[in-house]
Amino acid sequence: MTTDDDARTTTDIRDIPESELDQAMDLVCLAFHLKLADKTRTYHRDLLQDCARIGAYDGGRLVGVAGAHRLDFSVPGGQLPCAVLDFVSVAPTHRRRGVLASMMDELWRRCADEGRPVSCLWASESGIYGRFGYGAATESLRIEIDSSRPLALRITPDSRPLRLIDPADAPAVLAPRYDATLPQRAGRFVRDEFWWRNGVLDLDGARGGDDRDGFGAVRVVVLGAPGEVPAGYAVYRTRGSGDVRAGTVSVEELEADSAPAAAALWSYLAAIDLTSTVRVPARPADDPLLYLVADRDQVRVTAQEPSLWIRLVDVHAALTARSWAAPVDLVVDLRDTALPVNAGRFRLTAGPEGATWHPTDEAPDLSLDVRELASCYLGGTPLRHFVHAGLATEHTPGAVRRLDAALATEWLPFIAESD
Ligand SMILES: CC(C)(COP(=O)(O)OP(=O)(O)OC[C@H]1O[C@@H](n2cnc3c(N)ncnc32)[C@H](O)[C@@H]1OP(=O)(O)O)[C@@H](O)C(=O)NCCC(=O)NCCS
Repeated sequence: MTTDDDARTTTDIRDIPESELDQAMDLVCLAFHLKLADKTRTYHRDLLQDCARIGAYDGGRLVGVAGAHRLDFSVPGGQLPCAVLDFVSVAPTHRRRGVLASMMDELWRRCADEGRPVSCLWASESGIYGRFGYGAATESLRIEIDSSRPLALRITPDSRPLRLIDPADAPAVLAPRYDATLPQRAGRFVRDEFWWRNGVLDLDGARGGDDRDGFGAVRVVVLGAPGEVPAGYAVYRTRGSGDVRAGTVSVEELEADSAPAAAALWSYLAAIDLTSTVRVPARPADDPLLYLVADRDQVRVTAQEPSLWIRLVDVHAALTARSWAAPVDLVVDLRDTALPVNAGRFRLTAGPEGATWHPTDEAPDLSLDVRELASCYLGGTPLRHFVHAGLATEHTPGAVRRLDAALATEWLPFIAESD
């Protein structure tokens, strides 16, 4: 495929062959200002190798790279295949000439070929992807716990034993507890052994391993008896301090099947000797921790930020694949300038039995952009927030309330991974 868009560059869009993986990695390092250790570069090169690889070529020279991981992720009521965009890099000599836009068109073509109705990504800058129809679909909180004193709780923690396990055993031990969260919270990736090893656990040290900002080896604490699916677990690292009592605990992931189980794990993390702060880079906005602590001043939310962005590449397939919490029947006028095949007026009829999405000429009850639909799709942001912000329009009173009730989920969507 060739793009030749007036003042924009003429670029060939095609597969990046394996023989050019090093060139592609050089471009990624150039665009992201990275100086990677050999081990880390090899890890990323291997990841890119396993991706769908889209290259933009100017006169045979690679000037744009986009990779897409082929993964499944949780949506309300099930799982969907998605294309997780990564490695997006354009040479500084070719920026703002439509190279990314051309690679995006190619990505969507491949999504259609492979039956992936959704594309996901983490954005390096929030300003980039809205124009391509991506909406922030999950949010995460950064949390800091003052652990210079015991964590005061309003509930009784689970009293079962806690044990530290060998991180090498963690994928097998933790996976059943993590997998049990998939039907509960949308926006989570289905993990295989590779994602466990190299993602949250970083067992091979390819992503910084034992020396991330001075934090030590990964620790895994599990609640419950050996041989049982854990009632909860936490993956964390610690860092000492010049002041011997003021070390920091960094919690990379914590899952629990109940509030008492979560309380037991948070209490443990807040009571580790010679530490006075627990930092958590990503927690769901409805984390029960915020409510079960007795002294809310002890748990500070230091940031709230968009996390996973999603794009409904095939709106019909995405809407009919998710579950719906309440019946709704209305006409939506959907804008999608980047992927007009999705645009038009559609009647959405949805409920506990499933959904249909058919073209219609009837007057719309609601008008909105595919970007806002993406932000609502996992149950993250109610549509009314976008109506209040002037980004969607309600033509029939009550239509937004009915659609929000149908889209609602018990738990907010959340993903712990940040990249
Ligand atoms: C971000 C990046 C991929 C954009 O590539 P590009 O080829 O310059 O983008 P395009 O020319 O196709 O831009 C398409 C549109 O997005 C806009 N856009 C691109 N980058 C943007 C940014 N960082 N912020 C806001 N808008 C941006 C362009 O202005 C253009 O808008 P228009 O259609 O209204 O004219 C490139 O600048 C880059 O490699 N940056 C460093 C690495 C990075 O941040 N990658 C993204 C990882 S998530």
